[in-house]
Amino acid sequence: MPVNISSQQLRQMIQQSAKHMQTQVSLKQMVEFGRTPSQATLLRAAQFIHHELPIRLARRVVELENLPYNLSNMSSVKKVAEWYQQSYLDLVTFPPPEDVGLPKTILRDISLTEEDGVSKTITEGKPKAILDAGLLKQVAAYNARFVDCIENIKTRHDPVAINMAQGIQELKAHWKETKSTPVLESASSGPSAGIDAGAGGGVDGGDLLGNSTFRVTRPETNSDHGGAGAGGGGGGGGASAGAVGTHEQMQMLKNQEAVENLLPTDLQSFLDRFYMSRIGIRMLIGQHVALAKASSAGSKSSPDYVGIICTKTSIRDIVTQAAEHAQGILQDTMGVFSPPEIKLFISHSGVLGAKVDHAVDDVHFMYVPSHLHHCLFELFKNSLRAVVETHGLDMDGEYPPIKVIVAEGNEDITIKISDEGGGIPRSGMPLIWTYLYTTAQRQDLEDAMSSEYRAPMAGFGYGLPLSRLYLQFFGGDLKVISMEGFGTDAYLHLNRLSDSTEPLPS
Ligand SMILES: Nc1ncnc2c1ncn2[C@@H]1O[C@H](COP(=O)(O)OP(=O)(O)O)[C@@H](O)[C@H]1O
Ligand SMILES: [Mg+2]
Repeated sequence: MPVNISSQQLRQMIQQSAKHMQTQVSLKQMVEFGRTPSQATLLRAAQFIHHELPIRLARRVVELENLPYNLSNMSSVKKVAEWYQQSYLDLVTFPPPEDVGLPKTILRDISLTEEDGVSKTITEGKPKAILDAGLLKQVAAYNARFVDCIENIKTRHDPVAINMAQGIQELKAHWKETKSTPVLESASSGPSAGIDAGAGGGVDGGDLLGNSTFRVTRPETNSDHGGAGAGGGGGGGGASAGAVGTHEQMQMLKNQEAVENLLPTDLQSFLDRFYMSRIGIRMLIGQHVALAKASSAGSKSSPDYVGIICTKTSIRDIVTQAAEHAQGILQDTMGVFSPPEIKLFISHSGVLGAKVDHAVDDVHFMYVPSHLHHCLFELFKNSLRAVVETHGLDMDGEYPPIKVIVAEGNEDITIKISDEGGGIPRSGMPLIWTYLYTTAQRQDLEDAMSSEYRAPMAGFGYGLPLSRLYLQFFGGDLKVISMEGFGTDAYLHLNRLSDSTEPLPS
């Protein structure tokens, strides 16, 4: 592969790669690699990723360059597209193993085993070829180089979500300036082109497009509002309900500030696809890097981990850590010294608090702890904020606790998070799944891009939609049900990961 590639050539290569099929990977496959894979196994995994990642990246480049509403031209989105392009280039210019002197025979249709530090290649029906120590060293060096390459890509893409959020805000500012609101323009062309404020687009279908009932509330722009403020923007404020599409309704919508909080259906579903793809890419890289590091000499990995997958993820541990993390952020950002308690209840054989034999009352299952942490952390922040805003910062006595109830089924493990934070008005429910919808004071994205960035309490509007994608990635789901005037229940359904295969957005 020539390293000097003109931008024209690169463009053509990307177009070509984007036409290739992506390959789904199941969690089971990732776990079957084993805890400490051999250098030979790692080499085969590297070859798979070397083939697969450019396809996935190329598809995103093509999509990022062809977004509706001029979004592709927003500088932050251009930046993201450049990163995807650069990472694509890094991979396609990374030498295949045969170019660094590894014999082709060890790379094709072979299963490899290592014994006593010496690798053997066993080709079907052909005599065994021995990987001598020298060759093994060469394979290990190649693997290490590949790990550096993809780790570098992962780091490059760390700020992608923030940049995309910035890009959407640039677009919204542009709409405001030019007084054009494509949400309404696309909606007024008929119900089928209408707004989907509904199921959050794309991923789980649901009542998309024409079926969705669209309601709007006036958003809280003033975050100082106490009361039911956290609940999706003052239920009292001029709610209008009805199916999308009639001229009158569109006129009514035009008068609603809430329109600013909406994204057209196609952008919403683009973001769902884009982030789902990103989760898959980061999972592939994260898993490979973790496996490679675990099998490198001298490292001691926990026996419960296979890469970043923990075969005995402890719900109690993750709930506790995420709760402390969220409470800490609440203390720092809202100055609450005794935050609402987060109480965990685990059901065994259908009975809450049933006596259990194990020393610690817990549920263990196979999952990626960092994903679960992410979702619980986001949900706890939402509940904490709602409880504190509903009951006031100067509340006498203790805040009502947030209850976490865990139920273990055959298919799913379900975690319910119940708060008494005033709930969300029904008209605000569809909006909570849209990116950028927030009733908190909007976070300054410039700050978020700075190096001293800490996770914010709220204010990006990404917490719920992204958490749902993380859960759906492994075959689970997230549902939110509210009792306006009282509180909110969030249900995290975690699939036990038997055979769930990766959802691959086109
Ligand atoms: N437990 C809850 N109680 C009341 N309102 C909630 C709750 N969870 C979410 N919301 C509403 O949904 C909105 C979107 O939540 P989220 O996606 O996490 O974004 P953010 O927290 O950045 O606003 C919040 O701004 C809030 O209005
Ligand atoms: Mg949030």
